[in-house]
Amino acid sequence: MDIKNLFSIKTKNALFCIKINEDRLQGYSFINNNHRNIILPPLHNIDVSAFNNRYLFHTIGTDDFGEPALLIQNSDGSLSSRFEFDQEITFEDILDPFPHSKNKSSQMGLRFIDRRNKIYFDVFYAGFDDCNVVACHTKIINFGNEKINLLKIPSLEFNFEENNMIFSHFDGRWAQERHRFDESVESGLLVNQSLCGSSSADHSPFTLVKGKNMVYGFNLIYSGNHKTSFECNSTERSRIIIGINNTLFNYPLEAGESFTSPEAVMSFGKDENDMMQNMHVFVQNHIIRKEFSKVSRPVLFNNWEGTYFNFDRQKVLDMAQESKKMGGELFVLDDGWFGHRNDDTSSLGDWYPNMNKCGDLSSLSDEIKALGLKFGIWIEPEMISEDSDLYRQHPDYALVIDGQEPFRHRNQLTLNLVKPEVQKFVIESVSNILNITHADYIKWDYNRNITDVLSGTHLHEYICSLYEIMATIINKFPDVLFEGCAAGGSRFDLGILYFFPQIWTSDNTDPRTRIEIQDSTLLFSPPSTMGCHVSKSPNAFTERTSSLEDRFNVAIEGNLGYELDPCSLSTKEKEEIKKQISWYKSYRDILLYGITYRLQNNYGFVRFSKDHKRGVVCIYLMNDKLFSIKLSGFSSRKFYVFNNYKISGYELNKKGLPYKILKFNNKASEYSTNIKTIRLEFVELE
Ligand code: DGJ
Repeated sequence: MDIKNLFSIKTKNALFCIKINEDRLQGYSFINNNHRNIILPPLHNIDVSAFNNRYLFHTIGTDDFGEPALLIQNSDGSLSSRFEFDQEITFEDILDPFPHSKNKSSQMGLRFIDRRNKIYFDVFYAGFDDCNVVACHTKIINFGNEKINLLKIPSLEFNFEENNMIFSHFDGRWAQERHRFDESVESGLLVNQSLCGSSSADHSPFTLVKGKNMVYGFNLIYSGNHKTSFECNSTERSRIIIGINNTLFNYPLEAGESFTSPEAVMSFGKDENDMMQNMHVFVQNHIIRKEFSKVSRPVLFNNWEGTYFNFDRQKVLDMAQESKKMGGELFVLDDGWFGHRNDDTSSLGDWYPNMNKCGDLSSLSDEIKALGLKFGIWIEPEMISEDSDLYRQHPDYALVIDGQEPFRHRNQLTLNLVKPEVQKFVIESVSNILNITHADYIKWDYNRNITDVLSGTHLHEYICSLYEIMATIINKFPDVLFEGCAAGGSRFDLGILYFFPQIWTSDNTDPRTRIEIQDSTLLFSPPSTMGCHVSKSPNAFTERTSSLEDRFNVAIEGNLGYELDPCSLSTKEKEEIKKQISWYKSYRDILLYGITYRLQNNYGFVRFSKDHKRGVVCIYLMNDKLFSIKLSGFSSRKFYVFNNYKISGYELNKKGLPYKILKFNNKASEYSTNIKTIRLEFVELE
């Protein structure tokens, strides 16, 4: 064989390798973290088995009968694809405005060819010198003379040389996003997918795979329908395939046309903390816009849970004034300021102020800024109410199917962003609000899913249009802090984070139920990206009571805000919040940008400063879990001071925090309701 057959890219401390077999049809990828040369033995060729051979990407039309990664209807209608390795090619990045990882340090491109059907399949891998993460995307090029249909395109396929792995997926619904489910997969196919037009609250695109010696985290830089399949069979190997969901996908490619997949990412490490830290560095340094990637984020006060739609100009100003007194830095005016909106039945699309409610926005913003606060405002630009001037003038802007009654979710319809006139309208509406108010912050909401699908390309085109719109607005207003929101955290994905550096994690602000949502989100997204707010007690969603301290201790796992009516707080509560914010500001850099370790056997985290010399521990105990509290990340040879007690790193990691430090006996009576949180600061002894 005279072709080069081993290719590799570098990550922080591993090589990601591709080996092409002599027949050029087969190949495989593997991680080499000892920099030794690993050559995998050939598999037994059993004709009736599913994973017969090692292909880099699996198709229909070979002797592999597992879930295909790539599915093409050829010009003659056949569905069989046989790609052989053609040549190494120059790396081609995904083009703006489609989101993709930035600052890649190691890259490769490999071209495969289906000679019969005249199709190229290009595969691009990239590595990063500051984290163990591999990014991968693919491209299909029709170089024949006839139209083909692309039915499925993978972003990444990876085969593991082991079975009995644990596949974790993160599922839920509104206000209960990203609950973790660990499945031990001895055999069979598991699918994690969204079909509602967005990355969804139902099934996050992030998944986690645990093997004998490594933990892998996978994600897709995409905000639409996604699909991850995890399969294991009698060959004792396992396979993951990640990409745009093929269920509502059918992309025609005329002669000469091509289609590029979104980018998928794979992070890996020796345990979950290691995998997570790699993911955090990746998101922070390669996804988040440079304007915000290392910048401190303001403590915000948002009026939503404090007033809902029931406010006027004076109320807003009073709330802002009280927020400022407690140390708030940004005041956000949420839903209800526009059109004639006093509930959720009207006005989406009428993005001009309700003069009876809050007067003109320009002077309102000026008055709030004059208090020494930044000003932020809510908008839901992708939506339209039927009771709106916009709908009366342009019913054709709504996403409906002729002759079919549309589903109304939260009494609203989606705008058909694929239409250029709708894109123009959205860009102008958001720009206009920013020009009038000079807002420092926008909360961009999205409160329903897409039900009316126009074609096999439509949902993907919707996402492409959304990215065009977001990119245009951000280029016009690069210094405005955008927070993504989708009825809480229904669109918490790396596509949104590419444009908006933070996302509202969930509408669930009850600390007891929010802990699990944050814990899962933190596995793939760094603290600065997670909007986490203290709200009133009893909680509006669960009606559960909790102490202000517990609510604060849970909110500081991410990006701190308050979501309540500051005017209704008692003097004691205001004093407590003032102290909380002042403490937070002195630890903000560590809390937003430090190095996180999740606790080994409880919810909570240890967050170290970048130099690892000081930090914060937050422990979240549920009253049915009375474990000792083992920490991670402390150096076994060093000593640390907690609450004036000196303790060795060895003891902290192995035995846990002694109760004398916690000042806590771990008895049920000590839990405020069914939660007890403990916050501690520590420093390393010189
Ligand atoms: C859903 C969001 O998640 C809430 O925070 C709030 O902004 C409402 N929408 C407003 O309608």
